[in-house]
Amino acid sequence: MNYQKILNTIESEMNYRDVEGKVASYIPELAKVDPRKFGMHIYCGDQQHFSFGDSDEKFSIQSISKVFSLSMAMILMGEDLWQRVDVEPSGDPFNSLTQLEYEHGVPRNPFINAGALVISDILVDQLDNPKQELLDFVRKITGNPEINFDEKIAASEKSTGYRNIALVNYMKALGNIKCEVEPIVDFYFNLCSLSMSCKELAQAFMIFANKGKVLETGEEILTPTSVKRINALMQTCGFYDEAGEFSFEVGLPGKSGVGGGIVAIHPDQYSVAVWSPILNHKGNSELGMKALERLTSLSGLSVF
Ligand code: DON
Repeated sequence: MNYQKILNTIESEMNYRDVEGKVASYIPELAKVDPRKFGMHIYCGDQQHFSFGDSDEKFSIQSISKVFSLSMAMILMGEDLWQRVDVEPSGDPFNSLTQLEYEHGVPRNPFINAGALVISDILVDQLDNPKQELLDFVRKITGNPEINFDEKIAASEKSTGYRNIALVNYMKALGNIKCEVEPIVDFYFNLCSLSMSCKELAQAFMIFANKGKVLETGEEILTPTSVKRINALMQTCGFYDEAGEFSFEVGLPGKSGVGGGIVAIHPDQYSVAVWSPILNHKGNSELGMKALERLTSLSGLSVF
């Protein structure tokens, strides 16, 4: 498969001017990002790399990071985790409050904000230094000791984070949060602020395409069963109320973030990351989704 030729075709076909939508603005610092940014990187199972555009530039990965925190919680808790958070698609926006009330404070899945906040509670409760251990985890699977939080983004989200703070308070009232609210949201805002490039994201997500093992070292990070579950959750819940559309158009497990990044994997074949900050009305990268649709159509390869 000539992936570089496919990427060159995607780059030549697509332009940020052709897409409708806006850069995220509810986190003030994200509104400053240049909407013209566009990059894509594929990392293959034979360790080959292919890319175009702004694929080496770091950006705020936002909710993509929820796959890392979920992985860490699964390592700590195993199957007991599913008592605290469900595994069903939400069909609702990622920051919905209403669903929590009639489901008694148990979030639909670990990728909506409420679910990621329960996962944050677990990590804050069980780890001595959760922020450092998160960095250690991401640095290990990426093979890059320099990955870090973006403190400006974390502070910016904290300054407007009333909705997430409301979600934690509400779940605490319903008995599904153990720790105090402040350390949980502090961890969560830092988690979302992780700054990574498309290349680094593709390298990190290779463990989900490689049955839980770091490709370069062979070290097992997650069991094959955990990877099966995480990929199933990415497929069914990775794009919130647009998960069906992403499956329909792209046909790969993936995860989006309001920074405009999307990562997807093809088990045993490749991991791919794309970045374009212009979001559609469901909060997913408009050009990113289109680029991934072209990738699976031009290669003739999806999981279906
Ligand atoms: O909590 C928030 O709203 C953001 N830090 C993350 C949301 C997000 O990335 C949703 N994904 N498309």
